[in-house]
Amino acid sequence: MCGIVGYVGRSQAAPILLDGLRRLEYRGYDSAGVAIINGDQVETRKCAGRIASLAKLISQKPATGSYGISHTRWATHGKVTDENAHPHFDATGKIALVHNGVIENYQTLKEQLIQDGDTNFQSDTDTEVLAHLIGNIYQKLNPPSPKGSDVAGGKDSKARLVNATRAALKQVIGTYGIAVVHADIPDFIVGARRGSPLVLGVGKDENFLASDVSAIVAHTRDVVYLNDFDLVSLDRENFEISSIEGTSGEHPVSKVEFTAEDIKKGDYPHYMLKEICEQPDTVRDAMRGRLTYEECTAKLGGLDMNPAELRDIARIVLIGCGTALHAARVGEYLIEQLANIPVDVDFASEYRHRNTPPTEHTLVFAISQSGETADTLGGLRESKRKGYRTLGICNNVASTIARESDGGVYMHAGPEIGVAATKSFTSQLIILNLIGLLLGRMRQLSTAQGKRMIDALEALPNQIEAALKLSDQIKSIAKKYVEATGMLFFGRQFNYPIALEGALKLKEITYLFAEGHPSAELKHGIIALVRPDLPSIFIAPDDAVFSKNVNNIEQVKARKGPIIAVTSGNGAKQLKNLAADIVEVPTTIDCLSPVLTVIPLQLLAYHLAVALGRDVDKPRNLAKSVTVE
Ligand code: G6P
Repeated sequence: MCGIVGYVGRSQAAPILLDGLRRLEYRGYDSAGVAIINGDQVETRKCAGRIASLAKLISQKPATGSYGISHTRWATHGKVTDENAHPHFDATGKIALVHNGVIENYQTLKEQLIQDGDTNFQSDTDTEVLAHLIGNIYQKLNPPSPKGSDVAGGKDSKARLVNATRAALKQVIGTYGIAVVHADIPDFIVGARRGSPLVLGVGKDENFLASDVSAIVAHTRDVVYLNDFDLVSLDRENFEISSIEGTSGEHPVSKVEFTAEDIKKGDYPHYMLKEICEQPDTVRDAMRGRLTYEECTAKLGGLDMNPAELRDIARIVLIGCGTALHAARVGEYLIEQLANIPVDVDFASEYRHRNTPPTEHTLVFAISQSGETADTLGGLRESKRKGYRTLGICNNVASTIARESDGGVYMHAGPEIGVAATKSFTSQLIILNLIGLLLGRMRQLSTAQGKRMIDALEALPNQIEAALKLSDQIKSIAKKYVEATGMLFFGRQFNYPIALEGALKLKEITYLFAEGHPSAELKHGIIALVRPDLPSIFIAPDDAVFSKNVNNIEQVKARKGPIIAVTSGNGAKQLKNLAADIVEVPTTIDCLSPVLTVIPLQLLAYHLAVALGRDVDKPRNLAKSVTVE
């Protein structure tokens, strides 16, 4: 939610900042802006609209300078206007600030500033209040002596900006990842984070700040992941990190796992399609090195739990948002079936405010591709506070959830740029299956059952390849239903969450009305919606509940609702006279079938969105990483 990039070095800042913003556009794309310092002038370019509009503005009126800050916005406070686009400035216009997060007490702070005579606000944003607060404190701190060695812009001025930022942040209630520059302090940026991610990129004669490594990986793979309450100051050669309270700590430099190549679209027209097609590899990567044939189980060292602890688990809670929640819902069915452990699933946003009765030996898994989703993080923190062991299932290495949990399992899916999650979902499903296998083998699963599951897992990448070959068939189904005003999705057991996920994908990127339901719920109300121009999609693989699904398909057919069936095995034969379109995926064991049945639904949403001319990778109003509540 909002992305920031800062650069200080010897190159021109504008192209580096613009390129970084393009990589962060998945975080929000309402408006964008840069502040680049040229001599003692701040060159500001900002506008409502996408990065392309900002790039056009800069090409019409270039901004020169070798250090600056930039922002792409997902509006929280204030409408999407040029004025509300970041950067924002203090009252003197010398201090520029970009911000990702929410200043909850901005009204109180604004009133205090107004009482102090500071009335020159240009926008409706919470961010501008923080810029003014930093400026207000900066003015009050001792100015450097004009005659001494610390002329304006020297060491004292740098310390003054750091101290003003620190003092202002101490008054803030809320979340922030910020970058600050002062027109009179050359080659110097101050950054800080609390609740919003921020990473420092360490280059040669240049340093970077960004919300996410993808913005800077083309320039450096050496990074420092900042922690909450870290405050960093950087110039071309050096950086210094302390806490908002002024204390110092350990900040190792890490190597980024992926390269700039990995975040390119290649020959694909959209990131979403690229990511759908990557799933044979990402599924393989999610299980790589984690299966053992000798013991017929999974090895998940990241859980950091010994066999006795694993055997003692009495309850599991799975939380997440959006697509990650749907993976959790599949996890509920499969962990209960494989390991016979009670599982509760909840929206992270609900769970964190609920008063759930405490239970012994409970594990809480927070599932999140980004590892930064505010609600999921909130749920994780609440669980920790209650003393539960918390574990993360994340894709982004060193993300906040990954770092704050007691252990976890990484997805290793590589960067996911398309706003609608695809490959991260199937990676989450694999990891949940590995957890089910591991815990099952500590309990009721026999060696033979464990082996059968490993065989099925290992067959999946090739089966996904086969499912991807359905793309042309699905494209023609999408064309056939391009006039439809919505779609209904139905599934049972392991595939009920896939009905939810299919509907979510469709809503997210086509903007059509879509609902997912358990097939049997049809007769309890939803059947009233069935009509000849509203397709129903049944996810009905040839599994333990296939015949039950057939009953529900009959009920829709009897009311002249068009049916698209996603099936497997002998399903196609039986559905021949019921479904208008039959999509056949390969057969696997029941608990793994969602990994295959979801592929045609991802493709259906994709092809329909393309046919409708939607912006597939950046659907309206959405952002990939939702770091506000
Ligand atoms: C946003 C995205 C969804 C995603 C959800 C959870 O709403 O648009 O695609 O599923 O956040 O994201 P997470 O990073 O926590 O998995």
